[in-house]
Amino acid sequence: MHIKDFAGKTAFVTGGASGIGLGIAKVLVERGARVVIADLRADHIENALAQFAGGTGSNAVSALQLDVTSRDAYAEAAAKMQADFGGIDILVNNAGVGLEGPILKATYADYDFGFGVNIGGVINGFVSFLPQMIAHGRGGHIVSTASLAAEVVMPPHLAIYAASKAAVCHYCEAVKPELAEQGIGVSILLPGPIKSNIHQAIQNRPEHLRAGSGFAESEQKLSERVVGDTWMEPEEVGEMVARGILENSTYIVTHGIFKDWQRARSQAVLDATPDVENSAVRGI
Ligand code: NAI
Repeated sequence: MHIKDFAGKTAFVTGGASGIGLGIAKVLVERGARVVIADLRADHIENALAQFAGGTGSNAVSALQLDVTSRDAYAEAAAKMQADFGGIDILVNNAGVGLEGPILKATYADYDFGFGVNIGGVINGFVSFLPQMIAHGRGGHIVSTASLAAEVVMPPHLAIYAASKAAVCHYCEAVKPELAEQGIGVSILLPGPIKSNIHQAIQNRPEHLRAGSGFAESEQKLSERVVGDTWMEPEEVGEMVARGILENSTYIVTHGIFKDWQRARSQAVLDATPDVENSAVRGI
């Protein structure tokens, strides 16, 4: 059963204490869901809960501190959701880090940080929560936040980010039919520029992956970036995500501004692809 409305549903939103995740959490609460915000940062959690305090949905929101890269902590969080709510109905794999830096300076610490959070955290969400979402028999939905960076050839310094997001996209596309058989819908959120704290990647990097990083200078520079006035409000993204869940949309795309780049990438792959007769010879 796909999600038909949000009343009485329980949603677990990673990276839910800031930016896009908080926008999604607000919209789901407004529509009657219980939302558990799971986030690495205590300061973000405190600020997020303060935004709900006193509002009509304040009782519907709770938070827990979770590093999505920790498999043990994730398993514990899932067990708590099972005990407290009889399992969750909606998982939003949204936690991510916007790291950037010159590829020739990248070290394994940078690869491990980027891939660890952006795709590792998503995989940990699927692995930790799928068993309970299937076992409770109510059906459900999993949204994972990729990026339009996954759909275009990105400018320099964003290779690790783009690759980690492309992995999210292809993983979700590929599991969707199998999960449909279990009543679990799958959506991929592909945002363009959204107002958030994504420039604070440096603050989300664990100590052991700071040591030896080649991106310290770039991350310092990124942390000074100013959020654009014209970037989309996270609540608007939240509305799009809510609609995407109800419609079980595979892709939830926030902006059309990169369409030419998206088309150029797809066309380049098609242009390099042999004719159909060629593959028929190989018996595919
Ligand atoms: P944000 O930094 O405001 O929010 C991300 C939240 O995730 C933060 O509260 C942070 O504490 C949390 N987080 C970071 N690492 C974590 C970890 N290991 N475990 C648990 N929580 C963790 O940034 P934003 O922009 O709202 O990012 C949300 C998602 O949207 C990310 O996956 C990002 O890559 C993606 N995105 C954002 C775009 C934008 O323009 N803001 C564009 C395209 C994609």
